[in-house]
Amino acid sequence: MVEKENNKESLPEISIEQLEEGVQHVNNPIIGLMPIEKRYLKSVKEYVQNNNNFYFSDGEARVEVRVVSDEIIRVRLAPHGTFLEEFSYAVNKPEQRVTVFSFDEDEDKYWVKTNTVTCLISKKDFLISFQDNQGLVTNEDYTTMHWEENADFGGYYVYCTKKCSPEENFYGLGDKPTGFNLRGKRFQNWNTDTYSFAKDQDPLYRSIPFYIGIKEGVSYGVFLDNTYKTHFDFGHQEHDKTSFWADGGEIQYYYIHGPHMMDVVKRYHTLTGTHPLPPQWALGYHQCRWSYYPESKLKSLAKNFRERKIPCDALYLDIDYMDGYRCFTWNKKYFPDPKRMIKELLNDGFKTVVIIDPGIKVDDNYWVFREGKENKYFCRRSDDYFMEGHVWPGRCQFPDYTNPEVRQWWGGLFKELVEVGVAGVWNDMNEPAVFGSGTFPNDVRHQYDGHRGSHRKAHNVYGMQMVRATYDGLKKLQKNKRPFTITRAGYSGVQRYSSVWTGDNLASWEHLRLASLQCQRLSVSGVSFCGTDIGGFTGEPDGELFTRWIQLGVFTPFMRAHSAGDTREREPWSFGKEYEDINRKFIELRYRLLPYIYSAFWEQHRYGFPILRPIVMVEQDVKTNLVREEEFTFGDKILISPVMEPGQTSKVLYLPAGKWYDYWTHEPFEGGMEHTVATPLDSMPIFVKAGSVIPEWPLMQYVGEFEPDEIKFQIYYSDYEVNSFYFEDHGDTFAYEQDIYTEKKFVVKGDATMLNIKQFSEGLYTPRYETYELKLIGLPFIPSKVYIDGKEQNQDLKFDELKRVIIHANKNFRNIEIFK
Ligand code: GLC
Repeated sequence: MVEKENNKESLPEISIEQLEEGVQHVNNPIIGLMPIEKRYLKSVKEYVQNNNNFYFSDGEARVEVRVVSDEIIRVRLAPHGTFLEEFSYAVNKPEQRVTVFSFDEDEDKYWVKTNTVTCLISKKDFLISFQDNQGLVTNEDYTTMHWEENADFGGYYVYCTKKCSPEENFYGLGDKPTGFNLRGKRFQNWNTDTYSFAKDQDPLYRSIPFYIGIKEGVSYGVFLDNTYKTHFDFGHQEHDKTSFWADGGEIQYYYIHGPHMMDVVKRYHTLTGTHPLPPQWALGYHQCRWSYYPESKLKSLAKNFRERKIPCDALYLDIDYMDGYRCFTWNKKYFPDPKRMIKELLNDGFKTVVIIDPGIKVDDNYWVFREGKENKYFCRRSDDYFMEGHVWPGRCQFPDYTNPEVRQWWGGLFKELVEVGVAGVWNDMNEPAVFGSGTFPNDVRHQYDGHRGSHRKAHNVYGMQMVRATYDGLKKLQKNKRPFTITRAGYSGVQRYSSVWTGDNLASWEHLRLASLQCQRLSVSGVSFCGTDIGGFTGEPDGELFTRWIQLGVFTPFMRAHSAGDTREREPWSFGKEYEDINRKFIELRYRLLPYIYSAFWEQHRYGFPILRPIVMVEQDVKTNLVREEEFTFGDKILISPVMEPGQTSKVLYLPAGKWYDYWTHEPFEGGMEHTVATPLDSMPIFVKAGSVIPEWPLMQYVGEFEPDEIKFQIYYSDYEVNSFYFEDHGDTFAYEQDIYTEKKFVVKGDATMLNIKQFSEGLYTPRYETYELKLIGLPFIPSKVYIDGKEQNQDLKFDELKRVIIHANKNFRNIEIFK
């Protein structure tokens, strides 16, 4: 196996201390020691308004304050008065609906005000701050925005330094492998291939320059839409300053108002988009390895799943399925007839997902290379030579995915793979990774959708544009079927095109904990459809670690086991019968909960709700000493407290305020406090909020194995009113865009003598099944009568061994009343 080096070619770190000084010297690796003068905004001399844009000038530099919506205000800085062209890969809707805003000024300040947020610009020193309707200042400049001219590439380093209050905490920034709260830490965003990454290593594969601050119980967000290398410091260098800066481009940040963390995340999604609804099969269990080959190996893997009755939906082909690692080719020795093989796997319920990397082998006898070369689709250096580097196939050139024509071409290359039946595509190595040097040199040129620039500007979006091209291509080729894509690299907005996994992690308990933190963090950073290599990519997990990871994996939106080529076998049965049985039990749980999981994906797609929600999001004012960071909710109803230590037989966990039920025993628990619960290996603490209606499918070995003739709902008694949502549709087409879906709302409320369940439906989809099985959990009385839509029913109302009462109802019921 080849170990890949990290990108070592970066400019020396500049400390905040240096930043706050006027003139400094930076040792630049290209041109040596050079003076850099730091320039600051001076007093505001004039302002001009143009609709919802306000321009403030100090005579030379200009600042634009744009009211984007009631809750979002954008700030830009142009050091010499000319703003860069309006263009963003992240923000797909720059103009939002502006309702009411006003402008005012007093002796000291200008006020740009919406219904919910006010941006204040001080006249004397050009400091910018934001406050809410109650006058609470949530975010304010410590120094004015500033910049350094950089002769090296003709741009600026641009800086913004904010005050950081003593109690302020910070979240977000994508997949940083560190403790959940970012306070006291400093980070960089520069997509980097980090094989076997360590805890606290930075940067990793993705760049999401978006953070959430919580100050005095109020949340706000800052999204720095800058694709250059960016830096964030949350009170690390100096405890009272939070800074963000970029090695080029513009200070262009969106201030996003809360007051709740959920509001901030939803509003961030209104800027950068949500995940499209994935095909339902993509939510099943996926089995991957570097690599399953030849065909007989893949077939025996498939046979094992079905014979052992462990549900599975997708099998992966890593790089060895190709001919000499040439993308879009097959190794015919290993896979003589891919079309037949894929069809046979499909008949058995398995989808095939293949890896496609960006490096195209330099080989004039290879059609992809020839086409790319003839059409000038590959990246070039500043001296007009092609960008060449070594990756798996050896000497390679790399498509410039920031060119729309190249994206179009790339999308079309999947034609044959789609024709042979490939169901999903996995884009890897797209930081972009290059052996030896780490990545491309900074001077590589990019078309950048007509806003030409160097690799400094395009590096962090390269992977996102690759998977965008893949997604768009598949969407066209698969006609009305939803594409499934997975990418390693990405930038804010990547969620519009792909799911992601966290890259080459390690088989260790520490990485199991990181897996939970990284997925939660991605989820609040706009990338909900995420997962980790279950079991750890490198190294060897023992049975216990693998099983605990499968348990966590059930509740990561993307569930895939993957391992490096030099590791031992890593399937759910590889560790002996005891572990196999538990792994099966948990993968089955995933399949039973698929309608709940799918509904959470709908809520993400339609409304921008993150799928995983850290405890601090569920309960913003939670006392931090009560939070176990690995704990989170999946959707808004199910809380998971995964087991993170070997040999652990019990753990202390925290339940947010309200009433909860143990998923396994149905025992009720009070929230707002800690509990100690048993954690034998065959179990994991799972709690369900009182009042929830949780849909379950009958057990299937793969999605679509059969049409369920009944949907089960677990209904958890509550004495306060609780709403639950359930979504269903065809599961793999875009018909939902024409309203061919059903969104159901259940409202549950009980008292000492009765339980009432109401159902409301919206949408045009008609499922085939007719009835519901409703399992009533936690009834505080022995029921004697049940009415459905006013009619008394003759149903058996006994408690079963799990203290549930089971009733049946037509799927269109509107009102059920159960009486003591
Ligand atoms: C990279 C990927 C890994 C993959 C391997 C071979 O290391 O992160 O998932 O298996 O390349 O393609």
